[in-house]
Amino acid sequence: MAGRNAGYLLVGLAVLLHTWRGWAVEVNMEDRVEVLRGDTVPITCMFKSDDGIGGLEIQWFYVTRSGERQSFYYQDATMKEVKRGTPFTDRISVKDSATDGLVVLTISNVKLDDQLEFICLVKTLTEGIAEGHTMLKVFEAPDHPTIEGVETGILVSDNPSKIGVCEVKNGFPKPNITWYKNDMPLRATQGVVEILPSSTVHSSGLVSATSELKMKVTKEDNKASFYCEVNFFYPGGTKMTETRRIEIDVHYPSTTLDVWVESPKGKIKEGDSIEIRCRGDGNHESLVSIYHNNVELSVTNDTLVLHNVTRLASGDYICNSLDLESNDELSGHTTVFVHYLNPAVIEPKGPVILHQGETLTATCNALSSLNTSTVWFKNQDVFFIGHTLVLKDASLDTAGTYTCLVSVPEIDEMQTSGSLHVNVLGPPKIRKEDNTEIEESFESTVELTCFVRGFPAPNVTWTTLDGKVFKTVSQTESEEGVKSMVSIKVTSDSTVFCKASNELGDDDLAFTIKATKHTVITTSASTTTTTTTPTTAPTSSSSRSSSRAASADTATISPLTVKPETAIPPKKFKKEGNGVVIAVIIICILLLAILGSVLYFLYKTGKICGRSGKQDLTKEKSNKDNIVVEMKSDNTEEAILLGVNGEKQLSSDQ
Ligand SMILES: *[C@@H]1O[C@H](CO)[C@@H](O)[C@H](O)[C@H]1NC(C)=O
Ligand SMILES: *[C@@H]1O[C@H](CO)[C@@H](O)[C@H](O)[C@H]1NC(C)=O
Ligand SMILES: *[C@@H]1O[C@H](CO)[C@@H](O)[C@H](O)[C@H]1NC(C)=O
Ligand SMILES: *[C@@H]1O[C@H](CO)[C@@H](O)[C@H](O)[C@H]1NC(C)=O
Ligand SMILES: *[C@@H]1O[C@H](CO)[C@@H](O)[C@H](O)[C@H]1NC(C)=O
Repeated sequence: MAGRNAGYLLVGLAVLLHTWRGWAVEVNMEDRVEVLRGDTVPITCMFKSDDGIGGLEIQWFYVTRSGERQSFYYQDATMKEVKRGTPFTDRISVKDSATDGLVVLTISNVKLDDQLEFICLVKTLTEGIAEGHTMLKVFEAPDHPTIEGVETGILVSDNPSKIGVCEVKNGFPKPNITWYKNDMPLRATQGVVEILPSSTVHSSGLVSATSELKMKVTKEDNKASFYCEVNFFYPGGTKMTETRRIEIDVHYPSTTLDVWVESPKGKIKEGDSIEIRCRGDGNHESLVSIYHNNVELSVTNDTLVLHNVTRLASGDYICNSLDLESNDELSGHTTVFVHYLNPAVIEPKGPVILHQGETLTATCNALSSLNTSTVWFKNQDVFFIGHTLVLKDASLDTAGTYTCLVSVPEIDEMQTSGSLHVNVLGPPKIRKEDNTEIEESFESTVELTCFVRGFPAPNVTWTTLDGKVFKTVSQTESEEGVKSMVSIKVTSDSTVFCKASNELGDDDLAFTIKATKHTVITTSASTTTTTTTPTTAPTSSSSRSSSRAASADTATISPLTVKPETAIPPKKFKKEGNGVVIAVIIICILLLAILGSVLYFLYKTGKICGRSGKQDLTKEKSNKDNIVVEMKSDNTEEAILLGVNGEKQLSSDQ
């Protein structure tokens, strides 16, 4: 027992001593060497030994997939041998340097199958055997990855729906695919996110990988963006690429339906075009129909357009929406009110004929769905604000056209109008002209105009003193009255009467025409009519001034051929005047005497007549009216006399 033990001890000591000396060979290699497929890769084997290269044996092995060592290179002091028939036979070279303690195996055109464990074995004469191991890792960068989203919209549902597939081809080893939604990585979650990877190994050994994403989509995922990130190994680390981004269309059904009047905003009136829209909160395609009074109306693009609506378009509009994907039906409604304004109705209808002093009450109304306001106009001026127009104490001035405008304050442009013609019965009344005394040269033509008011429309005639009737050139009847015009050739001094009459009376106006031999148009002191009045005669200066006033006003009155350039006449009047004035004064005095007696005679008889006439026909009239009344009721001579009184009043007015 003891002897055997001593033997072990000796052996142990021998080994210990051997080691103690430090003369054992050492081999060092990198654990892992990385290379791209097709490249050339050096695998370095470092050793430490005191024996020279001549005393070394070096062998290279690779480890097969079944775990066996397979030698493919051998060298010793005498030979270097690449073994025949190995995968490396034609692709390797080995260089050694004993001084540096290096052996380098170089493999060219690296193949995927070269991903193996390589062993470098060094055997020495005196220091024993050592070996080192290196794993060769072969990589291939894949093609750029692609993404395919589903083309059709994705329906919102309770189960995950396919979003798309990412693919990356021809990498080694298998690249990793990661999905991103809106830049956030997606992780598989039970029932919400499903990621289905798959891969194919090609005969070349390269790997293609795909990844399908399924997700439970919600409304909020509409237009979400997705992409894949691909990670793969590369010598020295990992690399990353990304696919393009895709957006998904999520189709979701409506849960509520809105029906509203898109236009016009605010109140609707007849004649408007209205647009009623019906829209759900979903984005499914749906079939929209709109009903009014159980009648289906044509809808385009979820919109119903009604042109030129009437009040009949008022009421409920019911919209039904049928979801074409889920077959769900929703219903909603909106109420429309079309405001209206009927044509204005005036009571009484008119034309209305009033007696003087009478009162007329007229109303103007238009049926409307809104409050209205009414304004009455006469001759474009606001006459009265309100529905009911009251015309009190009718006079000739009351006559005319009254227009009522009914409008709706709440809606602009909503208005209607009507008109009422009012006539006031009255005898003719001729407008007093300023120059009824006209001086004209022989053979020239004067035009005289006479404007008469009164209703019924008076008949106007033009005559001379002795009853000769002139042909009326033109006669126009308007609301204001009758305008009659006559054209007279001047042959001698004459007086022309404008006579107006209707059923209720008559009126006339005298124009005196003095024929002069001068071709130059002049206005001289008026030679008054044959029935020159006693009032004008004694005061020739006043008649002169009145004629001047008249000539200044010619623009408004009849003798159209008389030109108003009369700055010179006063001088002419003075030159020829001296003799003539004396003669005129004498004649005037004579006439005054004659007329004085005539006047006295008339005064005696006519005074009673005039008073009774006045009292009969008028009650409370102005001075002017009184005169007119007398004129029409009395005979011509009196009319002229009183007409002169009227003129006097006119000139005093001026
Ligand atoms: C790929 O994924 C696997 C498993 O998660 C991981 O071990 C590997 O390192 C990944 N590859 C890359 C290149 O990131
Ligand atoms: C439908 O209506 C929408 C919203 O008003 C509009 O954007 C779209 O252009 C319309 N489509 C057609 C075909 O009129
Ligand atoms: C609108 O309708 C009214 C009554 O139906 C009709 O008189 C009018 O001409 C229409 N206007 C337009 C522009 O169509
Ligand atoms: C319409 O007129 C009535 C009576 O004057 C008044 O009470 C009502 O407030 C008016 N409505 C509007 C909208 O002005
Ligand atoms: C108007 O006068 C003309 C001529 O004197 C006469 O023929 C006609 O009947 C008169 N008309 C009326 C309505 O008095």
